[in-house]
Amino acid sequence: MNGKGALSGAKRAGGKTEAKRLLRALGGEVCSPPPIWLMRQAGRYLPEYRELRSQAKNFMEFCLTPDLAVEATLQPIRRYGFDAAILFSDIMVIPHAVGQRVWFEEGAGPRVDPVATVAELERLSLAGLHEALAPVYQTVTRLRRELPEETALIGFAGAPWTVASYMVEGGSSKDYTKIKTWAYGDPEGFQQLIDLLVDATSRYLIAQVEAGAEALQVFDSWAGALPDGAIQRWSLAPIKEIVRRVKESHPTVPIIAFPRGAGLYYRDFAQEAGAECLSIDSTVPLDWAREVLQPRVTLQGNLDPALVVAGGAALHDGVARILDRLGDGPLVFNLGGGIVPAARPEHVEALVAQVRRHRA
Ligand code: CP3
Repeated sequence: MNGKGALSGAKRAGGKTEAKRLLRALGGEVCSPPPIWLMRQAGRYLPEYRELRSQAKNFMEFCLTPDLAVEATLQPIRRYGFDAAILFSDIMVIPHAVGQRVWFEEGAGPRVDPVATVAELERLSLAGLHEALAPVYQTVTRLRRELPEETALIGFAGAPWTVASYMVEGGSSKDYTKIKTWAYGDPEGFQQLIDLLVDATSRYLIAQVEAGAEALQVFDSWAGALPDGAIQRWSLAPIKEIVRRVKESHPTVPIIAFPRGAGLYYRDFAQEAGAECLSIDSTVPLDWAREVLQPRVTLQGNLDPALVVAGGAALHDGVARILDRLGDGPLVFNLGGGIVPAARPEHVEALVAQVRRHRA
């Protein structure tokens, strides 16, 4: 763990020139109180986000217009002073950048013209990757200049399995029948799609670091749909390879892996992925996470997003439980999944205040 090393040479007095709190926690340091940010902290629960969103023709354009994406990223920082900002974008910019048609339907989420066979992979190419993603890199560079000096900037991408699920199913899925039929029936062919995504995603994340991202998160939102044998091959192995490639060019950039729903397999991710931090979903038992995962990696999580809708004593108790069980090890306070549109801004305020009062 390199937390102490990251501080060497930084002045501690005044707190101004100290390493950013998020980066200290990702380096394995126990911060008291822990740094806090929330997945999907920019989103429809904020009135100023809904107003900004109405200025873009569609959601992809919103993500690929630096003026709008910079502003969306900054909104929750202004309101709550989170310890980290996450680039405003979406995991679906990768299918777009490799040549798939992507659009968002109100209420239905992302839609694409699906690829379902090896032959159809010929339609996809890495040739235009950086050109298509240039607006994202510009957003990152501008954010790095505009963010307060204590706020860390997180870049992100979807993991190959999750991104592939949208690419193959044509959109959101309940049962993953199409992608699993391909993966089980023609594993070598399906591996070619995963390999293409490992390539595209590694290059995308490296370019984000070069543009100014200080940490990276890889979202594998549908890892929990995979059974034993398949989760290692289609979720853990591609993430491990992405981490390896990013670290090959940027050895010190901290990486957060989020294999949502991975259950007991979180242990394998902690041992093998090579990421400094694991983001745990709300179903992961806190005592197990503390004993099995936290000795190896920084943990991020894992408040149930519904508690930010409910508020009151339930929210208070949920926050207290996490701080009590995980707060004396390396922790980044977060939700167990993205904040939902029905979340109440005043509940977020109470949550942040409670975390900031905590002392290990
Ligand atoms: O604030 C942030 O966290 C940064 C922005 C961010 C978005 N999407 C913006 C967004 C991030 C990190 C993501 C990741 C993402 N996108 C994931 C992985 C994390 C997760 O939530 O599981 C996934 C699976 C997607 C794909 C996606 N994008 C879906 C399924 C949807 C529709 C769901 C919904 O909430 O409507 C989106 C749209 C989306 N991405 C919105 C936002 C703010 C809402 C769209 C809108 O404003 O109309």
